[in-house]
Amino acid sequence: MRAGLAVALLLAVSAWGDEPPDLVRGGVVYRDACESCHGREGDGRGPGAAALSPKPRNFVTGAFKFRSTESGERPLLSDVMRTVSTGVRGTWMTAFGPLLSPTDLKAVAGYVLAFGPKGEPPERVVPPAGELRPLPDTPAARERGRALYQSLKCGQCHGPEGRGDGPAAATAVDDHGESTAPLDFTVGLYKGGSTPQDVYRTFVTGLDGTPMPSYGDSLPSEEDRWALVHYVRSLSRSPGFFRWLFGPRTPWE
Ligand code: HEC
Ligand code: HEC
Repeated sequence: MRAGLAVALLLAVSAWGDEPPDLVRGGVVYRDACESCHGREGDGRGPGAAALSPKPRNFVTGAFKFRSTESGERPLLSDVMRTVSTGVRGTWMTAFGPLLSPTDLKAVAGYVLAFGPKGEPPERVVPPAGELRPLPDTPAARERGRALYQSLKCGQCHGPEGRGDGPAAATAVDDHGESTAPLDFTVGLYKGGSTPQDVYRTFVTGLDGTPMPSYGDSLPSEEDRWALVHYVRSLSRSPGFFRWLFGPRTPWE
């Protein structure tokens, strides 16, 4: 009897991960917590949207910034769950992780994706954070990263020393026509997360809808990718302080 109960419980727990999100529940959470900015139809035109910059995402046509999928693709359900849970630092997109139950988080993420195009699930090109193993952060790796930063011309936008003041920075605009500053790496507050795995994902897949391109194809080597991650993160002046203030992040994958 007890064994049977244990098996049933185990099955219930393991099935939770694969169960499709409850869209009816998702709609209730969305109307409550998201509609005022993202709009009833998911078009990013909620009553609170006009005054905000950057603008709330348009989920119908909008390109998603934070994805584990190819540039131009839809995000995965786990990508949307991560963003909704952690929020987008420096913008009005709040961290809902502490406010929503895991079931509600999954439900509302599914509801958000349902506004967009349908079809086959998009292909994952960056492994989940838990499976991405950073190569060691050594002085040699940072030096290699610095050379890549120069040869790939990241400084055109992010500035020669990573202060977000490159020659192309002033004219950078996003899909909504809002000006969007290339990140100042010396501050170390990343919108899409500041762990090595987060920074890796950001420049491998790019931030769709902004001038930040995808470097997945121009950086095929794992060694080069991690070298650039370590170099960019090393530019941050006080990462320990900011991580203390804003971390730890919830791994949703
Ligand atoms: C106070 C306004 C506001 C509320 C409320 C709000 N958002 Fe947002 N949201 C934003 C803004 C602004 C952005 C754009 C951030 C950026 O582009 O850097 C955004 C971006 C997003 C993104 C885009 C991530 C990407 O990869 O581009 C998702 C997904 C999202 N919100 C989901 C939600 C969900 C789900 C809720 C409700 C649980 C919600 N938001 C509530 C303002 C809001
Ligand atoms: C054409 C201009 C441009 C170039 C070139 C460019 N970036 Fe960016 N990058 C941006 C912009 C704009 C943003 C901010 C987008 C936003 O937050 O809306 C950004 C943001 C980022 C972020 C921060 C994402 C976050 O989570 O906040 C990282 C990391 C990054 N870029 C790395 C790189 C690296 C590494 C290179 C070179 C291999 C590079 N970028 C080249 C424009 C550029």
